[in-house]
Amino acid sequence: MPLAFCQFPIWARTRSVWLLSGLAGLKMKDAVDFRRIAMDSPTASVFSLPELKDVFPGCSSYEELYNFSINETDLFWGTLARLRLRWSREFEKVSDCDMETGLFRWFVGGQLNVSVNCVDRHKEKDASRVALIWEKDEPGQEERVTYGELYTMMNQIANVLKSHGVVKGDRVAIYMPACPLAVASMLACARIGAIHSVVFAGFSAEALASRIIDAEAKVVITADQGVRGGKLIELKKTVVTAVANCPSVTAVLVAKRTGNPVVSSSLDVDLDEAMIKESGECEPAVLDSEDLLFMLYTSGSTGNPKGVAHSQAGYLLYASLTHKLVFDCNEGDIFGCVADIGWITGHSYVVYGPLANGVTTLLFESTPTYPDPGLCSAAGRYWETVQRLKVNQLYTAPTAIRLLLKHGNEHVDKYDLSSLRTLGSVGEPINVEAWHWYNKVVGKEKCVVVDTWWQTETGGICISPRPSAPGSEIRPGMPMRPMYGIWPTIIGEKGEELEGNNVTGALCLKKPWPGMARTIYGAHGRFLETYYRPFKGLYFTGDGAIRHNDGYYQITGRMDDVINVSGHRLGTAEVENALGQHHSVAESAVVGYPHDIKGEGIYAYVILKDGYVADAKTESELRATVRQKIAGYALPDVIQICTGLPKTRSGKIMRRILRKVAADQTEDLGDISTLADPSVVEDLIVHHRILR
Ligand code: PRX
Repeated sequence: MPLAFCQFPIWARTRSVWLLSGLAGLKMKDAVDFRRIAMDSPTASVFSLPELKDVFPGCSSYEELYNFSINETDLFWGTLARLRLRWSREFEKVSDCDMETGLFRWFVGGQLNVSVNCVDRHKEKDASRVALIWEKDEPGQEERVTYGELYTMMNQIANVLKSHGVVKGDRVAIYMPACPLAVASMLACARIGAIHSVVFAGFSAEALASRIIDAEAKVVITADQGVRGGKLIELKKTVVTAVANCPSVTAVLVAKRTGNPVVSSSLDVDLDEAMIKESGECEPAVLDSEDLLFMLYTSGSTGNPKGVAHSQAGYLLYASLTHKLVFDCNEGDIFGCVADIGWITGHSYVVYGPLANGVTTLLFESTPTYPDPGLCSAAGRYWETVQRLKVNQLYTAPTAIRLLLKHGNEHVDKYDLSSLRTLGSVGEPINVEAWHWYNKVVGKEKCVVVDTWWQTETGGICISPRPSAPGSEIRPGMPMRPMYGIWPTIIGEKGEELEGNNVTGALCLKKPWPGMARTIYGAHGRFLETYYRPFKGLYFTGDGAIRHNDGYYQITGRMDDVINVSGHRLGTAEVENALGQHHSVAESAVVGYPHDIKGEGIYAYVILKDGYVADAKTESELRATVRQKIAGYALPDVIQICTGLPKTRSGKIMRRILRKVAADQTEDLGDISTLADPSVVEDLIVHHRILR
């Protein structure tokens, strides 16, 4: 597909004529002796800029390689797939993708095993290299797991799963916080070709059950209790309640975290005991590139959360390449992503990316503000951990940065953070003040700060200031540059592609990439409808973005009814459905509003049925209902009980008005003349002012 030259941002246009002519004749075999490099050093640092020339002759800068990756997509990804992954059978075709029909296949005909790529090949080189550092809730109690130990744990769990009848293609739900057994469980699924569905260990029994039912999971893996911020989390109890309504589940494997007595059920299997009985060897399943590796539920603007499904080879290549390039992460580094494994950030940058690259990855069990002063200061937990473990790259969310910034610099300044080289941010737009604090106070202006934009559906980072030439400009508060192979475009209100720079609209991606989601589990129609129908031939991200004068990208936020609470995605409809299940609720409408720490807070407008009163008891019951149906992070920050909602004459709620009221922007409500009853708005404003 020829590229329209003018659609490249300015920085990417330089020398592209030279590049296209220079590379036109390049055949894959000319690029590099893949096998030699792959055998010598499967994760060799060949992608730092000085060495790029060896892999892609003619490309000596990010811009050149970027253009190459867009123009010669198959050559680019095929080269990297051969170089970076260990295959059981070579692929015959690099890609077979169609953005119009939503069918995507990468590395067609290839076979491999993800667990071999993440564990075996590093264990073969050096079994004593540390794979995981489990930073437990209490500081100073960290546990290290080597690649050799991880290999044994993974294989034992794989054998336990097999002995409970789990075969290739079966689904396994994992309801555990970040810990070595959770990682080993994910890899054990990959070992035997089972599809894992990790459910964030803060979700309620009902939310867990709905995910297990949707996936028809055969086995659930959990722990007796979790420990976070000094509090016990009743994981097993939640699982017992959940699986009571899940006929597909035939066994619950329970790991010991606290050893406290917990509720039991007839399905229970003591995971630690079962592992001891099993061999530490398990023949890896030979899987097709396109077999599914995992699914992960994420919120959309309508309906229930959807099981976004990723496949083996493409996902692994994309997660590992982006991990290496964006964070400049090399063998010997200690990579600290503090996300929970229940989210995509945990999948790609706690587990699969770092392990595929053979580095040491941190599993952070605690919170940024635990424990209380005395042990380490309340807001010093990250920094004390960085100092003690000598973390080289830290990856966290703007919400945590804003929270820590408020506590003051003294909590940071007392620790030695000189091991840090890269500071990453993900999950929501990072405000400029937080960016500067991260850069100056944490990074001492010596670290590379990367605001990384991506999604559960993209599998890995798509827009980020790095990779780019060392020393090249980084702007505060924006992810800036597309990753290799990622071609962003901005779509205007009429559905037209906006050319040139200084434009704002819907962010879409124009080209398939290996890490892209393949489907929504059991709902391919919904997959097409959500991502590929809005704009023909494009992947629609759901986000708005600006392409600035210089071609850099800035994300403006979701364009749909999804809100982003502390970097967690939440559908307003999910919260409304939960509220609607309380007996007092006649109707509700939920919107996001700007929140100092969380980015967006949850604002719920609720109309009660006749006979119910708006008092503190009702409010606390409403919150309890949301906790019971979804999770603690979904609790509304503000509940405004009202008598009416702004609706058009056809009955559609005008959320735009609700958002404005919630955000205190009532002087600028726009046209309200189309409302069935415009006086509703005045009532809402009056009550909102009383509440605030
Ligand atoms: O709105 C964007 C926001 O998070 C959404 C994706 O959420 P999720 O699938 O849960 O994945 C989060 C972690 C990758 C996006 O549609 N988002 C993510 N990163 C950024 C962001 N918004 C602005 N800037 C970012 N760096």
